[in-house]
Amino acid sequence: MYLKNQDNELFNVIQKELQRQQSHIELIASENFVSLAVLEADGSVLTNKYAEGYPGKRYYGGCEFVDEAEDLARERIKELFNVKFANVQAHSGSTANMGAYRAILNPGDKVMGMALDQGGHLTHGHPLSFSGIDYEFHPYFVDKETEMIDYEDFERQALEIKPKLIVAGASAYPRILDFKRFREICDKVDAMLMVDMAHIAGLVAAKLHPNPCDYADIVTSTTHKTLRGPRGGIILTNNEEIAKNVDRVIFPGIQGGPLMHIIAAKAAAFKEALKPEFIEYQKQVVKNAKVFAEKFIELGYHVVSNGTDNHLLLLDVLSKANMSGKKAEALLDLANITCNKNTIPYDTKKPFVTSGIRLGTPAMTTRGFKEKDFIEVALLIDMILMNPESEEILEEVKKRVKVLTDKYPLPY
Ligand SMILES: Cc1ncc(COP(=O)(O)O)c(C=O)c1O
Repeated sequence: MYLKNQDNELFNVIQKELQRQQSHIELIASENFVSLAVLEADGSVLTNKYAEGYPGKRYYGGCEFVDEAEDLARERIKELFNVKFANVQAHSGSTANMGAYRAILNPGDKVMGMALDQGGHLTHGHPLSFSGIDYEFHPYFVDKETEMIDYEDFERQALEIKPKLIVAGASAYPRILDFKRFREICDKVDAMLMVDMAHIAGLVAAKLHPNPCDYADIVTSTTHKTLRGPRGGIILTNNEEIAKNVDRVIFPGIQGGPLMHIIAAKAAAFKEALKPEFIEYQKQVVKNAKVFAEKFIELGYHVVSNGTDNHLLLLDVLSKANMSGKKAEALLDLANITCNKNTIPYDTKKPFVTSGIRLGTPAMTTRGFKEKDFIEVALLIDMILMNPESEEILEEVKKRVKVLTDKYPLPY
């Protein structure tokens, strides 16, 4: 109401975005819909407060209540992942990764991370990212046949390269990450292990994926993907020395004042993630993804690695529909289905074109989608991709998308 009266222009922009979210099927695997409680904390008066430092050791007065908020966030995330130390101040997943690297590496150190065109994130060594600039990154790969991480080849490579750090974790890998195997390889080559669990944190919290905190020297995550919190990052460790370095590196090393409203919203989300309903939600996310992948396979698509263990799948659109991921993304957008183009392993097309799309189930599962709804979405996607010129099909799909989005409204 206040914004509407004071700045109608901006109010309308936000209303349009709300309407977009309400009316589209959201399949971007890294997105989700926060609860009203998280949204309320996110938009709270804590945004007014400067609180450089950490609870009990701030550079500003008046921090007694934001201290309580940060302590709640830290205690809850430690309980959630059964870990000793947590920093909840990182403004984003990228900042969390920068903090983690700086806490344990020196510039120029050798690091191994998953190949970026096979699932790794930009902060795992892209030449234009601080990570690729500050450290010497070497990629490891998936097997050409299985399209899953080839741990044997990776171990051979690690023995040769002798990295100081191995990074596990990805933005587009549909299978369980074998952290025990990662640890064994690290121990063989005397490397540290960092896990970036940004995508799978919610599944880990629900014990549907191995917990990296049991194996890694340091763990980072975003809070806004499967974990369903506000946009932000966290860093976890069981090592006190590393924990001290992390706190110093995040503040004053990289950041200034923490975003206290976001930290409060993180605390609200972590409380939700500790509830039994959250486990049920994550189970549904995984069930939906499995059925979704199976439906595409039944429709004749190549699904990378022939399925999924987690919340996402990679669909090769080039081989079935003879179009690029870029074109598929644009066509589906016309039908109010949102996803993103994505390279598939050993892709012949450039990252801005790609042969595939990445599809995730977390957001629509939050809205209430069950298996039958994802089967319907697979059919709708297939109709669009196999009939790219048909106005009639486009209109029919849009109608069926509306039936689904009307059936499961957002609470905002
Ligand atoms: C594995 C992984 N790590 C880190 C990030 C970076 O997170 P942010 O966008 O919050 O910087 C992402 C984001 O997509 C990611 O997928």
